[in-house]
Order: sequence, then C-alpha cells, then structure tokens
Amino acid sequence: MSKEQFKQVLQKEICRIDESKTAKRHERVIDTFTEDHKAIIEGKPYTLFNSNDYLGLRFHADVHAAETEASLRYGAGPGAVRFISGTTRVYKDLEDAIASFHNREDAMVFSSAFAANLGVIHCMVKGQSKDALVGGDTLIVSDALNHRSIIDGIRVAGLSRENKTIFEHLNCDDLSTILQKHAGTFRRAIVVTDGIFSMLGESQDIKKLQEVTHACDDLYEEGVITIVDDAHGVGCFGETGRGSEEYTGGQCDLLVGTLGKGFGADGGYVTGDKIFIEYLRESAATYVYSNPFSPGTAGAALKAIDIVNGEEGRLLLNTLNENITLFKTSIRDAGFTLAVESFHAIQPILIGDPVKTHALTDALFNQGFLVTNISYPVVPKGRDEIRVQLSALHDNKDIEQFVKACTTCVQH
Ligand SMILES: Cc1ncc(COP(=O)(O)O)c(C=O)c1O
Repeated sequence: MSKEQFKQVLQKEICRIDESKTAKRHERVIDTFTEDHKAIIEGKPYTLFNSNDYLGLRFHADVHAAETEASLRYGAGPGAVRFISGTTRVYKDLEDAIASFHNREDAMVFSSAFAANLGVIHCMVKGQSKDALVGGDTLIVSDALNHRSIIDGIRVAGLSRENKTIFEHLNCDDLSTILQKHAGTFRRAIVVTDGIFSMLGESQDIKKLQEVTHACDDLYEEGVITIVDDAHGVGCFGETGRGSEEYTGGQCDLLVGTLGKGFGADGGYVTGDKIFIEYLRESAATYVYSNPFSPGTAGAALKAIDIVNGEEGRLLLNTLNENITLFKTSIRDAGFTLAVESFHAIQPILIGDPVKTHALTDALFNQGFLVTNISYPVVPKGRDEIRVQLSALHDNKDIEQFVKACTTCVQH
C-alpha cells in the first residue's frame, strides 16, 4: 500500500511538470531519414534545424563503414569495463587520435561527455578517497551558466558551500577578482566552464581565461587548474574544428569533449597532460566502473576525426560557416533579432514571450521544420528564444525556406 502512495507522489509531480508546460518526455519519434537527411515523422518529411550533428557526419558512408568494420572485428559491445577485461585496440587508437587532434599528451574516453564531467570534476575537485594524497582542499569556480553535467559533477563532489563559487557568465575579470579574493585559503583552485554555451551559442574566451588563471597560479600552493567542456565546439568550431581553444587562441589544462555532436558518433572524452589522465584512469568512477560505448561507435568516431582532419573536413567546416552567415543575414533581413551575436552553429532567434515562442515552434513544425523553443528558467524571463542549429547538411534552399516560414508563421 505504501508503494501506491509513492506512485501517487510521482503522479502529482508529473502533473505539476505538465501544467508548467516544461515536459520533456513527449519525444518526437523519427521513423526514418530520407536520402537528403529529412526526418520522416508520421509519413511527413521535416528539415532538421535542431540537431547537434553540425557537419552531418552521422550520415557519412565512410563513418558507417568504419562502424561496421569495428563491430565485426570486436563485437557489438565492449564485454566488460576496461580494467576487468582489457580493452580492444580501437579504443586505444581513438584515444591516441583524440590526444593528437587536440595536441595533448593523452586522452581517455567515457560513455558520454556527461559521464566525463561527472568523473573528471569529482576526481579533480574532491580527490579519489580519504586515503589518497589528493584531498578536497579545493576552491571550485564555475561559470554561472554552465551545463547541467558540470553542475552535477560539482554536486557529486560534495564540497562544502565555502569551497564553491560562481563567476559571472563570460566575465573573466570577475573570475580574476574571485581567484585573488580567495588566495591563500585553499591548496588549489579549479576553474570550470563550457567552451560553447548550448542555449545561445556564445563562446568562452579561453585565451583570456588562460591569462587570468595563469596570473593567479602562484596565489595557490598547488596552482589553478582549468577544465573546459567544449562539447558543442569540438569538431565544428575554429578554423580546423579544434573548438573554442582554436577559435580564441587559448588552452586549458583538461579539455572535455563529446563524440556525439560535431563528430556525429557518440561518447565523451577528456584530454590533457599524461599525469592528469593517468590519475583519472585510476580514479574516475564513471570510467573505472562503467562500460565504454561500443567498439562500432569507437570505429565510427575514429573515422569522423580522420575526416575532420582532412580536406573533406575543411570543406564541411566551410559549408557550415557559409550556412551560419547566410542564416544570420537572412533572418535579420526578415526583421528578426538574434538574442546574441553567436559565430557558432547555434543561433538563437529572440522572441521574448513563452506563449509566442511555443506557438512559433509549433507553426514551424506544421510547415515541416524542427526547431527548439527555449524559455524560462533555461533563459531569463523575457529572453524566450527559438534555438536554431545550422549544419553543413543544409543547402541555401533549406535556409531560405526556413526563414520564409518564420516570416509567414509570425504574420499569422
Ligand atoms: C556543454 C555540454 N556538455 C556536455 C553535454 C553532454 O554530452 P553527451 O551527450 O556526450 O553526454 C552537452 C550536451 O548537450 C553539452 O551541451
């Protein structure tokens, strides 16, 4: 009987979420894709303007072939966690490729970037165990609008309130003030931020961040360590797809990335100096006690990195950047306002009202376009937006038709 009562509590919570119009569980089911990558939903084609597959690599024939080959060679799954049953060559090759792509000494993969953030932040912030030399005498400083996986990584580390603080969104001067204010109080400081912020497409200035943390390094006995989660940047941002670091000319100590967005595959990673990665391989619970993604996915990701590294990658990045420019010009010419000046494939159209934003997303869906509406509490009240995501798969006609549909839908 008491279990029934718990179910009633859950039912009430579901009703509350439904009433607040923030439900996420009613996911659209895509039955298949057409050859030109339109999603088929209940028999009707839709152009995706809400995908993180910025270069279109998830549909790439060579990526599929590499996935199949790795799966045939190594099996559909990894078999067990790595310290139990060893690892297959494809994961080591992938880790070498990631380290080399980002010009780092070493890299390790996780089942997702979410899992990477949980594992990395927990270990770096709190230390491995009560017996380890690495203790929790840490100040963690986090950008105010960091991704949920970073916030949860900090929560999991379980530091007390005085060990945690946030700096103003994108404000490295504020970060500097905070680091100076706490000098001498903690053994080390860890600064953590998104590279690209997924709601607005803004990029953190990694060069400025590096300068500020470098200047404050001696204020802490064990220095200031920087962790950047560039999930939306890696593969698709910066001149050769190295992400926010390349775009701003800076470098962090530990770079977290995903293989599931710009690289079109799946899984997460962290890359940095060898000693960091060795420590994390020993200590990050989401790595040690959890299977990696499948060998097929590792093969697919390896091929995707190879493509981004080559001539085809340059062409795809060029196309993506041309599409971003065309979209920004056309949507502004049509009288819309962009919520921020983003140079990334994420482009937020400012609508400013939750009901209108919702209605516009629905109207665009009826016109054959998939986009995401974003409202409070994800963005401040009055900053409701339609988040548009460009891809190298779009052609000029897709973008022109989308902008035209936005205009038509707003007029009706
Ligand atoms: C900044 C950021 N970090 C991490 C993630 C999670 O990536 P993954 O899907 O690989 O767990 C996301 C995904 O939305 C993200 O935007």
